[in-house]
Amino acid sequence: MPKQKKLRCLLQTFGCQMNEYDSQVAIGLLKKAGFEIVCENGDSPQKKGQSPFLQAASEDEADIVIMNTCSVREHAEDRVFGRLGMLGKIKRTKPDLMVGLMGCMVEEHREKLFKRFPQLDFMVGTRNISELPSIIEEVSKSRKQVSKIKQDGISIEYSDLVKRHYPFYAWLPIMTGCNKVCTYCIVPITRGTEVSMPAREVYREASRLASDGVKWITLLGQNVNSYNGSSNVIARSPEGTTKQSMSSEIASASLGTLPRNDDKSINFPELLEMLCEIEGLQRISFTTSHPQDATEELFQVIARNPKISRRFHLPLQSGSDKILKRMKRLHTYQEYREKVDLLRRLVPDIAVTTDIIVGFSGETDEDYEQTANALRELHFEGAYIYKYSLRKATPAAKLPDDVPFEVKNKRNQDLLDIQKKITIERSRKLLGTVIPVFVEKRSTKHAKDMIAKTEHDRKVVFEGDDSLVGQFVNVRLRDIYHETLIGTLIQHAS
Ligand code: SAH
Ligand code: SF4
Ligand code: F3S
Repeated sequence: MPKQKKLRCLLQTFGCQMNEYDSQVAIGLLKKAGFEIVCENGDSPQKKGQSPFLQAASEDEADIVIMNTCSVREHAEDRVFGRLGMLGKIKRTKPDLMVGLMGCMVEEHREKLFKRFPQLDFMVGTRNISELPSIIEEVSKSRKQVSKIKQDGISIEYSDLVKRHYPFYAWLPIMTGCNKVCTYCIVPITRGTEVSMPAREVYREASRLASDGVKWITLLGQNVNSYNGSSNVIARSPEGTTKQSMSSEIASASLGTLPRNDDKSINFPELLEMLCEIEGLQRISFTTSHPQDATEELFQVIARNPKISRRFHLPLQSGSDKILKRMKRLHTYQEYREKVDLLRRLVPDIAVTTDIIVGFSGETDEDYEQTANALRELHFEGAYIYKYSLRKATPAAKLPDDVPFEVKNKRNQDLLDIQKKITIERSRKLLGTVIPVFVEKRSTKHAKDMIAKTEHDRKVVFEGDDSLVGQFVNVRLRDIYHETLIGTLIQHAS
């Protein structure tokens, strides 16, 4: 490990929250191993303006550059390829600069990338993050290209070294991979088949986080609803373990003394109920869910546990049954709608958000219209709209990518407009109401304002003081500014 001079490291993350979590783990490990982190996600503290990431890499600010990559759409990959090209140029004048990749592109392209990019020094698979410091050491000794890409096992690392952005928020991955076969999607290839962390481990980590001041956790997985934590479970005593004894038992990490029942597996609703018992944890969110695994059992658990966040992200992808079938989404539009209706009936204060892909192979104007109608009919709280991006390794690569780019663009823009109106309409209905919000920080733009978020993950600003940070307070909503809600502080919430 570096002794005399601390090696300085830049880390940029692309893609999903799972990648953000992995980067947080990587930063923790690198710091422990004696590296200095000079810049994350391109926000160089020293430089402002265009591409601070590359500026920092080219000047004498960094010794190592790592990109944690995403493969879901071509655009994200192209950005990484572009950066690799620029880093190649930078290395001509700064040959000692080390360049590394983590994340899904490593899993997808593997060692082929070394040939295409001789400037690339190392690659770390999603299941090899703990080896990052030793890989860097190996490269600095040998100056050869080094890759560690494990094919199986679980990629989740729980670590008290994780560098959280806020003391009171934490991500908690519970499973990785995906056993669905949506034809457009590369995730089953990059993240492999589903693997769940044992329930006991999840519970212990959540308890540790709670005792470390975390109030809001977000459970992560490519498909959290199909969580299946086999064996190693925390069994409840027949009369029901008390909340108190359970959390203190786990917090003291005396796992050996916990009751075991290796034959039972724990599903997602059961896991949620267990986590709700942890003292100190105030909210639990999760992402992402597949409609097929979003069951009534899950909706009932949400309904009876106020600690579970009232935002449910449930990707629809298309409103056309023909397209849904081509995507192998395993549901019709009608079935999806019935799920959303049931969820809204059982949990009336729920906000449902969704993902949509426009311009998938074979999408006609009529199919597109059905998606537009679905947005109007289902009145989502929010929707992420993506233009279909053909991924070579996926089953849909065999289908023609036959919707012209301009048409994809137009449909994308039109759906954004439809959804924007719906979101504004929903916001207007909230005006005058008093709602609990969780206070995150002071605004950097307006010194008097605090920034908070609602149960539904909407941004709220209100005038307040720093003592409110990390707490729920009640605000009365009085205005809307773009997507932000403006409120007035009423009182502390319980
Ligand atoms: N496991 C999650 C997340 C998958 S990736 C799920 O099933 O929802 C997140 C979103 O990216 C998807 O919901 C989908 O809307 C979008 N996406 C995935 N592959 C894509 C592709 N090839 N082109 C465009 N968007 C894509
Ligand atoms: Fe991809 Fe479908 Fe799996 Fe989601 S459920 S990760 S979209 S294959
Ligand atoms: Fe991207 Fe991999 Fe996440 S492909 S969305 S980083 S699982």
